[in-house]
Amino acid sequence: MSTIGVTAETAPGESRVAVIPQEAEALARQGHEILVQMGAGSPAGFPDEDYAARGARVVSRAEVLRAEVVVQVRTPGAGAGDVARLVAELAPGAVVVGLGDPLGNPKAAQQLADRGVTSFALEMLPRITRAQAMDVLSSQAAIAGYKAVLVGAAELNKILPMLSTAAGTLPPARILVVGAGVAGLSAIATARRLGGVVQAYDVRPESREQVQSVGATFVELALDTSAAEGTGGYAAAMSEDFYRRQQELLASVVAGSDIVITTAQVPGKPAPKLLSVEMVAGMAPGSVIVDVAAAAGGNCELSRPDEAVTVGGVRILAPTNLPATVATHASRLLAKNIGNFLRHILGGDGLVLDRADPIVAGSLITHDGAVVHPAVRELLGLPADGSATSASSEGTDRS
Ligand code: NAI
Repeated sequence: MSTIGVTAETAPGESRVAVIPQEAEALARQGHEILVQMGAGSPAGFPDEDYAARGARVVSRAEVLRAEVVVQVRTPGAGAGDVARLVAELAPGAVVVGLGDPLGNPKAAQQLADRGVTSFALEMLPRITRAQAMDVLSSQAAIAGYKAVLVGAAELNKILPMLSTAAGTLPPARILVVGAGVAGLSAIATARRLGGVVQAYDVRPESREQVQSVGATFVELALDTSAAEGTGGYAAAMSEDFYRRQQELLASVVAGSDIVITTAQVPGKPAPKLLSVEMVAGMAPGSVIVDVAAAAGGNCELSRPDEAVTVGGVRILAPTNLPATVATHASRLLAKNIGNFLRHILGGDGLVLDRADPIVAGSLITHDGAVVHPAVRELLGLPADGSATSASSEGTDRS
């Protein structure tokens, strides 16, 4: 059995916690010793007493960092912060689990390797059936899609539902969701619940049915999307010409919308630019854009991460950490994902590193003093590591 340490988060604005008291209890029941840094759960609404009551020991950060396995929402490199200092506080030989952004910050992975830390980045988990219960991206994106609608609705100078009163009838607001993956579908469902009239577009042909099943109208664009379905249910990158044509065709739908929520992403690429300056100029003053893909570079040319910009009367919001704004529930799902992952990699005698397992191969970034993940090695210009295996052979299931 292992000692599992849960630190407080250091990144600005990160109010989630990696393990909540309930999950601490579940892990303790399985024989692990759980150490929680004093105050780690407070920003997410989980006081120290709740951890203590469920069998965890509430201790100093230094003591937590001596645990065999350290879990963090953001491991060094994910989010702002002094990476060298955050890496140095981990003990050589420690295992660290959390969101690590190794593709965005591969240098941090190198620093972790140099420190002798074994690190797992959960956003790299393959989206395969067996990994669904650990899929932090999906659980957090579902929350982000929900919250994006609330944020947009709060900025809009109209109400969302139709309202009939003695003083007249207000028409419902029109919401357009571009990118109907996990976040997009959640946004559609939320906007519908609030009474808006919702349209959505996605390049993956199979998304049409999913969009319709959550109550939105699918926007039909005269575009050849036969090559848009990538692997694992993700979108493939398209040509510049395709994106230009998409902008042209989407412009009139955007212009007629009160709120546009963008969530389009292509894995491993900057977010595709789907809303140009001209398209924003075509929107009515008072309209709102919520660019959920802001952290990946944004789907709107005018987005500024974590800033609200007003151009021609159109408000453009680009919040990068919506889950942290509803930290209690976001942490609850995240902690369950992380707990499931820990149960997968920890055996009776500590870490069981089956590098042939796609879940391990996909998420293991550093081990034995080296960066071992092929994609991260490539970004660092390192030669391919022959021992790593690919996750692509297992079936996908995102529905
Ligand atoms: P996903 O991969 O499930 O969905 C993205 C969708 O975009 C896919 O359905 C894909 O087909 C679609 N897409 C790609 N190119 C497109 C195009 N040219 N036009 C229309 N649709 C296109 O991803 P998920 O999990 O829903 O996340 C979406 C974005 O939200 C990501 O960038 C993610 O990083 C971000 N996110 C942001 C958060 C925040 O707080 N702002 C929190 C969680 C996720």
